Amino acid sequence: MISKNFIKMFKAAKNVRKKAHVPYSKFKVGAALLTENNKIIIGCNVENAAYPQSQCAEASAVGNLVSQGYKSIKEVLVVGSGKLLCSPCGACRQRIREFASLKTPIHMCNINGHLKTSTLGELLPDSFGPQNL
Ligand code: THU
Repeated sequence: MISKNFIKMFKAAKNVRKKAHVPYSKFKVGAALLTENNKIIIGCNVENAAYPQSQCAEASAVGNLVSQGYKSIKEVLVVGSGKLLCSPCGACRQRIREFASLKTPIHMCNINGHLKTSTLGELLPDSFGPQNL
């Protein structure tokens, strides 16, 4: 299901994707998070010469969300490279889980447009979240 905010999120994610720092994988990713009051928060992947220190686009976006004073994610959109589905990695599903509901839609796109939408609950079943503590 595509929300009315989809186009705005897609443009924002596609734009920030261009800024990705990916000298190693060359695989640019842009992410856009929609807050409760319909503000769009973006992030791109930032790789590092010490490979494991690289950061996914979703992780950058979650950091930006919190640093801008937000704590709630209504929708997520990811724009990857290539033709295949770019779905958030396991660690980023958990990062999103902290601020989203299990019904939160995650739109997965490539630079040409929408490929698939899944809910966070579908991508991260039986998850551990803030309510568990
Ligand atoms: N990457 C993301 O930023 N988000 C995803 O959803 C999948 C993968 C990044 C990590 C790394 O910089 C590059 O894509 C290749 O794995």
